[in-house]
Amino acid sequence: MVKFKQNIRGNVALGVNPLGCRQEVLNQIEYVKSKGSYEAPKKVLIIGASSSYGLATRISLAFGGGADTIGVSFEKGPKSERNLGTAGWYNNIAFKEAAEKEGLTAKNFVTDAFSHKAKQEVITYIKEEFGGKVDLVVYSLASGRRTDPETGETYTSSIKAIKEPVVGPNINMQKEEFYTETLEPATEQEIADTVKVMGGEDWELWMKALKEADVLSEGVLTTNYSYLGTELNRPYYGGGTLGQAKADCDEKADKINALLGDLNGKALIVVATAVTTKASSVIPFFIVYCIGLYKVMEEKGTHETPIMHQDRIYRDMIYGDQAEYDEAGRLRPDSWELDEDTQAETKALIEQLTAENFNTDFTAYDLFYKEFSNLSGFMVDHYKEQDVTIDDLKAMQP
Ligand code: NAI
Repeated sequence: MVKFKQNIRGNVALGVNPLGCRQEVLNQIEYVKSKGSYEAPKKVLIIGASSSYGLATRISLAFGGGADTIGVSFEKGPKSERNLGTAGWYNNIAFKEAAEKEGLTAKNFVTDAFSHKAKQEVITYIKEEFGGKVDLVVYSLASGRRTDPETGETYTSSIKAIKEPVVGPNINMQKEEFYTETLEPATEQEIADTVKVMGGEDWELWMKALKEADVLSEGVLTTNYSYLGTELNRPYYGGGTLGQAKADCDEKADKINALLGDLNGKALIVVATAVTTKASSVIPFFIVYCIGLYKVMEEKGTHETPIMHQDRIYRDMIYGDQAEYDEAGRLRPDSWELDEDTQAETKALIEQLTAENFNTDFTAYDLFYKEFSNLSGFMVDHYKEQDVTIDDLKAMQP
């Protein structure tokens, strides 16, 4: 029997509980179902579909909107009892199993989304087996590296400040330690490389390829998740390398809007709220902001997990009547996070943090840690232990 062990290095999760991942997917499905159904597109492609925001989007659209979905992700399956693969691998399997039970199509492509090959495989599938067209394309990739499909060159993104170093408190979850970190400014090359990886170039390449292949419906929508944040995290996020990458996505949205003009299609930047994900946990200082923010938002009843946030975005905002846009035309579900009182209280709380109180009830450290653990299938509500062998796990395919 395989033993599942939570294993964290720094703020990166290495261990995985495949059955916990399954239960976590089921919990998210339950959440969406408890809200009832809503009118949404029926043919959806999600790029970056296996965890956090992409997975939550897929669950909301399938189990709330009744959508058939194609999910693209980059995950690893089990090799041995010591190497069980990644959580996203098991999330894909659990999602597919549950969606198919409801009579929905759920196709998984586990491949490098940045490649030409991935785009061609998805297009062929849409044409031959998915009814020929998609109505919604969700771009929810987060990656540390990207190989340019034209040149074969691989770029690595860096999470760094720009011009001035940033010094501030950070948290190491493995050691449960609160310490001072210095984030160095990026070189021009590092800024350019981060834009290459996390900017909008690949989003535009996907949309061009899908348009050329004539697999986009009239009125197609494509969404891309951005983050703008506030003065509390601007030095290392909005004003840093990641902020440059997000600004590039804004520019690419304009280009995609022009591309989709004759289809009456639209590219929409969705400025999403700060949540606990694999990607956000490795942003220096960000956990400190989150444990302050979540504490305040929990008290106000506005704290959201990815499933709560994405379900609200599609159910209430995009396909409902509660959309809020900014002057640049971006959707702003982050208005709860940006609320003036919320930010003022978060600032006051963060300023009082010390090595003694950061992991007490004074903050939402425990909540962040639980949400982080849930991403790998640990500390999952309603989880029941079951015996499985490595062969059982290997037999599960996405
Ligand atoms: P995540 O790390 O949980 O998910 C990333 C997804 O991309 C996974 O499905 C992964 O398999 C896939 N992926 C990565 N490289 C790939 C590749 N080469 N080919 C195919 N799939 C690949 O990330 P998260 O946090 O859900 O981020 C998604 C988007 O949301 C990002 O653009 C992020 O900036 C944005 N966002 C995140 C916020 C947060 O607080 N986490 C806040 C606002 C926006």
